[in-house]
Amino acid sequence: MTGTLLAPSDTTARTAHALPTAIVMFGASGDLARRELFPALINLFRQGRLPEQSLVIGVGRSPLDDETLRERIRGWLPSAESQWLGRIRYLRGGYDDPATYAGLATMLADHASQLPVPADRLYYLSTPAQAFEPVIGHLAAAGLNRAVAGGHTRIVIEKPFGQDETSAQRLDAVLHRAFDESQVYRIDHYLGKDAVQNILTLRFANAAFQPMWHRSWVDNVQITVSETVGVNDRGGFYETAGAARDMLQNHVLQLLALTMMEPPASLSSEAIRDEKVRLLEAVRLAGPAELDRLCVRGQYGPAPEGSTTPGYLQEPNVDPASRTETYAALRLEVDNPRWSGVPVYVRTGKCLPRRMAEVVLQLRRPQHLPFAFGHVLDDAPEALVLRIQPDPGLRLRFAAKRPGHQLSSQPAEMTFSYPAQTQAGVPQAYERLLHDALVGDPSLFVRSDEVRQSWRIVDPVVRSWAASSTPVPSYPAGSWGPVEADRLLTREGRRWHDDR
Ligand code: BG6
Repeated sequence: MTGTLLAPSDTTARTAHALPTAIVMFGASGDLARRELFPALINLFRQGRLPEQSLVIGVGRSPLDDETLRERIRGWLPSAESQWLGRIRYLRGGYDDPATYAGLATMLADHASQLPVPADRLYYLSTPAQAFEPVIGHLAAAGLNRAVAGGHTRIVIEKPFGQDETSAQRLDAVLHRAFDESQVYRIDHYLGKDAVQNILTLRFANAAFQPMWHRSWVDNVQITVSETVGVNDRGGFYETAGAARDMLQNHVLQLLALTMMEPPASLSSEAIRDEKVRLLEAVRLAGPAELDRLCVRGQYGPAPEGSTTPGYLQEPNVDPASRTETYAALRLEVDNPRWSGVPVYVRTGKCLPRRMAEVVLQLRRPQHLPFAFGHVLDDAPEALVLRIQPDPGLRLRFAAKRPGHQLSSQPAEMTFSYPAQTQAGVPQAYERLLHDALVGDPSLFVRSDEVRQSWRIVDPVVRSWAASSTPVPSYPAGSWGPVEADRLLTREGRRWHDDR
């Protein structure tokens, strides 16, 4: 089924789902299940969006049973209704053990036999990435990949989707042996954020912004996704990822694609994803000789005195000699008629001063600028700022006359605040995405060719950092990253947008 994003009929399509579903959650005793998946499911249940007679089967290696898993969920979500908890079951088993899948087949058949109509199946892979291939292979070997007559079978896969282009292609091959691409839902939870979807509305539902979205108006584009937290107890995972794989390859490049893609012919999921792929194909990273200069990495050290924040090397499960980057900034270009010559600076990092995700289009100075001669012009350029989080919204920064006798300017801005994420009716990212997977709308999921293009961009960076013997620049926790990232812009006469 081809879904539609934000189309007028979309709201109706989202409110109902005709068939009961068996949701099989691999990794049900893990952190993501606790933080995101069970809370999303309970919200869908409360809104009547989780089909009647649905069943959630948690699969995991922890020694639990139906009752102890329900108890655990009650601990996470004290207000959980017993009616909902009664629909949750647990299957203990190794991901590589055929007995797990035999047990799963029996539970699914039991569920199906109690229903007057065929059930849909939704497999959700929230295990460590090493388990993805075995789980998919065993589902297929047990025949559980096949759609039951009259129902749909779909599979949702968490990130990371591969470690590089080659391993992503291998995972794709394993997936495609078992499932058709139309059954595959690759999650990037940033796409589930309302403020991210708003980028498309803003761009394509308004005449005012359209001419501005072009190299004749835009001097440079900046994308920042910064976090205040460190890796905490995720050191083991993070050591295999680093900022480039954990954030750049997915969340940051998705923001870039939505911001810079061409207008799609329609709002169908395929039209939007086609344009995102075309944009990613046009992204150019520096050649090997320039990689060092145009790709900056960093690793957080301890916070300056007086704070207890440890440096990355002191975090649990981190190699004390680790060269894993916790900060990455790149200068990219988009080689197409709209954006040619406009630098795109992206950065992401942990232990930075603010949690923030935003896209900034810095506008060009007017060709003829009489203010430059003898009058004081505020030196911060005009900019359109799309804030994803916190406080989602939009700011247009411009110059206005400074009140008084002199003809000089001062910065001014027009702002729009997007309704708070917590406001009733605005779904959390995972809630939105789970629901879309249940109703078969792939618009907000990442297609196979998008993943490949993202790795094509990030792979050379990761490879060159792995091969380099130069020390990883350190930055104090709580600062804006290594000074090298500022030089990325200052040597071109620019600076990071910072009027926060
Ligand atoms: C995840 C990363 O995908 O996104 C985490 O693995 C990161 O390292 C998280 O903290 C950030 O998500 P958000 O929604 O809090 O910005």
